[in-house]
Amino acid sequence: MTPKLIYGTAWKAERTAELVERAVLAGFRGIDTACQPKHYNEAGVGQALASLERKGIPRDALFLQTKFTSLDGQDPSRVPYDPSAPLASQVAQSFAASLKNLGTDRLDSWVLHAPMRTFDETLTVWEAMEKVHRAGGAKALGISNCYELDSLKALYESAAVKPSVVQNRFYAKTGYDVGLRAWCGDNGLTYQSFWTLTANPHILSHPVLQTIARDRRKTPEQILLRFLTQQGVVPLTGTTSERHMKEDLEALDFGLSAADLGALLPLFESVI
Ligand SMILES: NC(=O)c1ccc[n+]([C@@H]2O[C@H](COP(=O)([O-])OP(=O)(O)OC[C@H]3O[C@@H](n4cnc5c(N)ncnc54)[C@H](OP(=O)(O)O)[C@@H]3O)[C@@H](O)[C@H]2O)c1
Repeated sequence: MTPKLIYGTAWKAERTAELVERAVLAGFRGIDTACQPKHYNEAGVGQALASLERKGIPRDALFLQTKFTSLDGQDPSRVPYDPSAPLASQVAQSFAASLKNLGTDRLDSWVLHAPMRTFDETLTVWEAMEKVHRAGGAKALGISNCYELDSLKALYESAAVKPSVVQNRFYAKTGYDVGLRAWCGDNGLTYQSFWTLTANPHILSHPVLQTIARDRRKTPEQILLRFLTQQGVVPLTGTTSERHMKEDLEALDFGLSAADLGALLPLFESVI
């Protein structure tokens, strides 16, 4: 089962192992990474997993998610697969690199980092990912940075193994993916959000949210995270602060009332 909050590991470079370990010890059970050395240290996540195993938190206790990133998203000097190989082989090589980096034999979720330049290429990648799924290498398949509902529906309709995860930037420019999220809900896909806190300072400082935070003795960040989880969104947080790790997790320990939810909902409609 997908955890309600996922620890994100982007941009942590040499601090990755230490921070992932601290996040799991603090209570996180979901980890997001990518086979994309430009932004993620996937091997650092693997080091944390090995250390956690020694401390009594086994791989099975964790939800582990990584991504296939196409050449467009890679630093050309650090591509983690043979860039001249056919696309399907790049996907297979990326999967093998992820398993090696993470020190595991299976993923809970494997995500295509962004739709490819053409739909045909997206399908080629997806079919290669389906092969891994069928062999037991990845329980769930997903797609990220997919903001066009029609593209998501087209993938869903063509895929033999349906996408069950969408990971998107949660911001005003896309109208907070309102329609896409509703479709995900109707079709059993989990919607994961990133940029949740960083892209929304206007929501965090909004008087309606501030008042709810004050009344409930929570931080504005906790109110936003809690609101989203009650909307069925699974937020990612990549906090580097132990205090914020704790506060982010505590956002799961209380509930907003129907009146709170009703007051907050319009904030995501009026800022588009
Ligand atoms: N699929 C994609 O293309 C994609 C793109 C970007 C990110 N991601 C994933 O999403 C993860 C999260 O990235 P993000 O872009 O959403 O940003 P982020 O790296 O999670 O940054 C969140 C910001 O919020 C702050 N913060 C966290 N909890 C807080 C709290 N309780 N109170 C106050 N401030 C708090 C953090 O500061 P402190 O460190 O000081 O707490 C940080 O500045 C990444 O690590 C990655 O796994 C995916």
